[in-house]
Amino acid sequence: PKIVFIQPDGVSRSIDADAGQNLMDIATNHLVSGIVGDCGGCCSCATCHVYVDDAWAAKLVPADEMEQAMLEGVIDPQTGSRLGCQIQLSDALDGLVVRMPARQF
Ligand code: FES
Repeated sequence: PKIVFIQPDGVSRSIDADAGQNLMDIATNHLVSGIVGDCGGCCSCATCHVYVDDAWAAKLVPADEMEQAMLEGVIDPQTGSRLGCQIQLSDALDGLVVRMPARQF
C-alpha cells in the first residue's frame, strides 16, 4: 500500500511500503524528514507525532490509553494527532495521507 507523507517543509513523499509496517519505521527507513522515532517504536518518546487527515482518521484503529497519554505531551496537538509508530499500514489504508508537525520536541 501507498502512503503519502507531507514533510514540515511542505514537500510530499509518496512511498510504497509493505503492509504490517508502522508509519514511523516506514518514514525513518525512507529518510522522510519530520519524524524522529527516538524510542524505536515502543510508544515512549512521542517523537513520531503525525497529523492524520480527517478522511483517514476514522479508518484507523483508535489510539489506546498509552498512546493517548503520550499524545498529551506532544508539541502542537491537533484533532488528527497520532503516533506514527502505533499505526500499522494495511491494504485498507492504501493512499493514507499524514502530515508531520513543524517539530517533534
Ligand atoms: Fe517513540 Fe513512536 S517512536 S513513541
